Amino acid sequence: MAWIVGGIGTTHVPSIGKAIAEKKQNDPYWKPFFRGFDYVHYWLARMKPDVAVVFYNDHGLNFFLDKLPTFAIGAANEYRSEDEGWGIPVSRPIPGDAALSWHLINSLVADEFDVTTCQEMLIDHAVTIPMALMWPGPIWPVKIVPIEINTVQHPLPSLGRCLKLGRSIGRAIESYEQDLRVVIVGTGGLSHQLDGTRAGFINKEFDALCLDQIVGNPDMLAHYSIHDWVQLSGSQGVEFLNWMAMRGALTGRVTELNRNYHVPISNTAAATAVYDNQEGTKRQAA
Ligand code: DHB
Ligand code: FE
Repeated sequence: MAWIVGGIGTTHVPSIGKAIAEKKQNDPYWKPFFRGFDYVHYWLARMKPDVAVVFYNDHGLNFFLDKLPTFAIGAANEYRSEDEGWGIPVSRPIPGDAALSWHLINSLVADEFDVTTCQEMLIDHAVTIPMALMWPGPIWPVKIVPIEINTVQHPLPSLGRCLKLGRSIGRAIESYEQDLRVVIVGTGGLSHQLDGTRAGFINKEFDALCLDQIVGNPDMLAHYSIHDWVQLSGSQGVEFLNWMAMRGALTGRVTELNRNYHVPISNTAAATAVYDNQEGTKRQAA
């Protein structure tokens, strides 16, 4: 059976790609951020996942405002990226696990999550930057299942809905016959606002509350409305929806293994966290 080894939350700011290309990881500006991935590398080397299920938001590369699914799931054997105009190198293609994707899609629809299925899907910086951060070497040793959540054009799904989506995915993964080790990734956030009069807005206190509560009490965070979230976390702080879905997919006893919080990276409060998932539901039942 497939096993959810744990979860990772990380920002996906595009300028990280430029810092990597220019080998600036040890520059004073970047060092405190990149050091936060030392533990991620150590943990991934031990957990050796086969697949990464990545919750992210598309920023206009594959979907645009004319057609923007609330939830979309990739069902391809390969995902390519393209130049998004950020001045960063275009990422290498990433292999997909289409068989697992279809299992998740079948389970989700049976569970009344009517997702958009994408047999071709371009992935943007919200997938490629986290991949480059998690596996800094020349090989990314996992296949991916990318799951897009609309954090861009209102109305957005609620925090509670994304938590439930994650829970549905978690149950689906654990009912998959193949012996796969699966890591769940949520990208984006934390607080940031890129546009309008509050551009540059960051809320350290609220970010700390989010990182504290997501571990043992994500349902508490699900009580915030999207409107409140924009006020407290900025118009792009709603990318935390991806973290909520990631947390929902962790079916077992969840503990925080590591946390790094660094302000700012570009306009964003950059958080990196690793979560253990002890004894998921299937294992408890076995
Ligand atoms: C930035 C943050 C994002 O989440 C993003 O998608 C693009 C840019 C930034 O802080 O520069
Ligand atoms: Fe973003």
